[in-house]
Amino acid sequence: MSSKLALLGGKPVVTGPVTESWPQFDQDEATAVMEVLESGNWNHGPKCQEFEEEFARLQNAKYGLLCTCGTAALEVICRGAKIGVDDEVITSPYTFHGTCMGIMMAGGTVTFADIDPDTNNIDPDAIEVAITPRTRAIMVVHFGGLACDMNRILDIAAKHDLLVLEDAAHGWGAQYAGRGLGSWGLASGFSFQQSKNMTSGEGGIALTSDEEMADIIGCVINSGRSIYERAPEELRWGGNHRITDFLAAILLCQLERVEAQNDIREQNAAMLTRALSQLEGIDPIRRVPEATRVSWHVYGARFNKEAFEGVSRSVFMRALRAEGVPVGSGYSEPVYKNPVFQHDWQGGAYKPLAWTTTPDAPDYRDLQLPNVEQYCRERISISQTVMLTSENRMGEVVNAFEKVCGQAKELIGLENKEVS
Ligand SMILES: Cc1ncc(COP(=O)(O)O)c(C=O)c1O
Repeated sequence: MSSKLALLGGKPVVTGPVTESWPQFDQDEATAVMEVLESGNWNHGPKCQEFEEEFARLQNAKYGLLCTCGTAALEVICRGAKIGVDDEVITSPYTFHGTCMGIMMAGGTVTFADIDPDTNNIDPDAIEVAITPRTRAIMVVHFGGLACDMNRILDIAAKHDLLVLEDAAHGWGAQYAGRGLGSWGLASGFSFQQSKNMTSGEGGIALTSDEEMADIIGCVINSGRSIYERAPEELRWGGNHRITDFLAAILLCQLERVEAQNDIREQNAAMLTRALSQLEGIDPIRRVPEATRVSWHVYGARFNKEAFEGVSRSVFMRALRAEGVPVGSGYSEPVYKNPVFQHDWQGGAYKPLAWTTTPDAPDYRDLQLPNVEQYCRERISISQTVMLTSENRMGEVVNAFEKVCGQAKELIGLENKEVS
C-alpha cells in the first residue's frame, strides 16, 4: 500500500537517523595520543613506522611512506616515477582535483580519458585513444574504493610501455582479484583526510613494492634523506611532507576498525544494488568482476529522468531526502571544467604550473568527454557514513527509493513549486 510522498506532506519512510557520526573514535585513540605525548617522539617516529608497515601489509605492498595528505602522496609517487615537464599522464575526469594536482605538482601534464559510466572509473578503451608520444603514465582512480579494470589497464600499459600509478585515495582495505588496491601499479597514494573511511584528520600514504621507488619517495617526503640508499644522488632532495606520530597513533587505531566497517558497507551495498537494479530508471553502480572488495567511500547510482517522465534529478533527490535518505549528486562537472583548465594561460605572463609553459599545452576548453558529462548530470551519491548504517535502516533506505520511484509521477511539475 502506498502512502503519500513525504515531500508532499506524507510520512517519511525512514524512522531515524541514517548517517553514522564521523569521525569515529574511542578510548583507544585517546590513550594512543597520550602515549605519544609522553614518549617525547612528537615527530616522524616509531608509530609512523609501525603504521607504514601495517598499512602496506593490508594493501599487499612492500613499502609504505606516510605524508601530509592524499594530494601529497600522489605528487610524491609522480616524482618517484620521475614524471616531469613534457610528460603526459592519463587520468580520469571523474575525480577530485587532487588527482590532477599530484601530477601537476610533479611537473606533468594531465590528459583526460573518458569514464565507463557503469563503473564510474576510467574506460580502458578511452585510455588507448588518449595515448600520445608524450604519454609516460596512466594514473587510475579507484573512485569510491571500487577497483578499475586493472587487467586491461596493465595490458595497455605494457603494450605502450607506460607506467601505472594508482590514486587509491578511497581504497583502504579494498581489493582487486583478492589483492589490495594500491599494489597493482608501480606506486599508489591514499588519503586519510577527515571524511575518509579511516582518518587522522589529515594525512596520506604512498605505497610501492619497488625499493628504489620507495627510496626516492622517501627523499621527496623527508627533505632528501635516503632510507634504503637506492635513490640516485641527484634525486636525494625534497621538501618536508612528513606527518607526526600523533597522527600515526590515531591511524593505528583506525586500522583496527576499517575491515569490520568495510564489511558493513559491503553488506549494505549488496542490499542497495539488489534493490535498485529492480527499479526502472535507476542504474546502480557496477563492479568489474575482479573488484572482490570495495570500501564504498561513496556509493553511486545513475538516475535516468526519461524513465520518470522528465522529473529532474534534483526534485527526485528532494523527494528522497524528505523520506529521510541523505543523497547527494557527486561532482557537478568533470574536473577539466575547473577554471584552472578553462583559463587561457598562454595569453598572460603568469605561468603557475609546468604545463602552462609548454608551447603546445593542451587546450582543455575544447575537451568534451560525453560519458563523464552525462554521468555528472545523472549521478546520485550515498556517502560512506550512510553505507555504515544498520541493516534495518538500509532496508528503510531501500523502501524509500521504492516509494519515490513508484510514485514519481506525483513529482511532475514540482520543479518550481515550493513544497513543505
Ligand atoms: C580521488 C581523490 N584523490 C585524491 C584526493 C586528495 O586527498 P587529500 O584531500 O587527502 O589531499 C582526494 C580527496 O578527497 C580524492 O577524493
